[in-house]
Amino acid sequence: MQIDVDAIRTAEFPVADRLLYLNHAGVSPIPASSASAGVRILHQYRDEGAFRLRKWVDLADEARGRFARLIGASSDEVAFIKNTSEGISFIAAGFPWKEGDNLVTANVEFPANIYPWMRLEARNIEVRMVQAKEGRVRKDDVIAACDGKTRLVALSSVEFANGSRNDLPGIGEYCQKQGIFFFVDAIQSLGVIPMDVRAYGIDALAADGHKWMLSPEGIGGFFISRDVMEMVEPVVLGWHSVRNRFDFERYDFRLSPDARRFEPGSFNTVGLAAFGASLDLILSVSVERIWERVRHLTEEAIESALRAEYEVVSPRLPEERSGIVTFRVPGVDPQGLWKALLSRNAVCSSRNGGIRISPHFYNTSGEIARFFEILKEEAVAQKNA
Ligand SMILES: Cc1ncc(COP(=O)(O)O)c(C=O)c1O
Repeated sequence: MQIDVDAIRTAEFPVADRLLYLNHAGVSPIPASSASAGVRILHQYRDEGAFRLRKWVDLADEARGRFARLIGASSDEVAFIKNTSEGISFIAAGFPWKEGDNLVTANVEFPANIYPWMRLEARNIEVRMVQAKEGRVRKDDVIAACDGKTRLVALSSVEFANGSRNDLPGIGEYCQKQGIFFFVDAIQSLGVIPMDVRAYGIDALAADGHKWMLSPEGIGGFFISRDVMEMVEPVVLGWHSVRNRFDFERYDFRLSPDARRFEPGSFNTVGLAAFGASLDLILSVSVERIWERVRHLTEEAIESALRAEYEVVSPRLPEERSGIVTFRVPGVDPQGLWKALLSRNAVCSSRNGGIRISPHFYNTSGEIARFFEILKEEAVAQKNA
């Protein structure tokens, strides 16, 4: 059955009546049904305390299954995290490093995927940064940075500033052949671009829900392949981490055999309820369909930017494209322009010395056109100021 996107926009995204919201690479609005799911849990806390404790466990299991489906994993390889940074730190801190090892990342990564690795330099682990060329992290440059001492490659699926999509299948294939652990920060693609952790040879992945997965901040998904489950030490432990998590009377320190060993304690149930509802919406529309619509909207954005003679810094090649379009408006201060756009209720970001827009599937061609009209007016006003 075809899903009616217009009906979803009307029912689920009241934000569209108020704002020209093109900032899903920043923080997204959440669908109405996800907000209701979170509020329902808050009301249960208010009215019943923990009377329905088992229901929350079911809620977590449902969301776990949905996240697993989204990335092509199985539920026992998924844990909930409080943000991407936490998932990255789990791998950085729990990996069986030996002095003299190195890892490879890139100089255009968001800091969340840099500092947990840099910390390892104090333990004599070398951090090698591939230098992006024209904003792209090339597979060949990643491979050239690896040697016999490389134990891990850590990259984003999509670079945050210019939206360049990395060659996950190609880099993953190389890592698998070389026995190198492949970690992916997937926050800039999950929910908008299809993901298949097995096909791409990904060992572990993390993403908070607050961007393309249309969820509140502070709840995200973590994947660790069962092939490497025993290899990474869970460094943060608690009563949830063990096999018999509900047996409080008898200490039995055997770690959960699955990814739940990375969940130390009580869940963010309110966030989880909303996260689960948003994943349900995304899966019911289908990521393939979402990606088709977003690709179309970003194509229109690129064409509008080029027509206006702005400098598009995002990739144009289909395999390098994402939900992000970043462009520079010659002679105009990007920060000033961004603020002026905000004052006109047009929500975007200022990145890479330009303006970054990131539409989701419920946005329309009309909104893209309107955004560029407002932008033109504000750019002229700034030039004349
Ligand atoms: C690539 C990337 N990773 C991570 C984050 C955010 O990390 P966290 O979920 O820890 O807040 C961002 C936010 O902009 C990002 O673009």
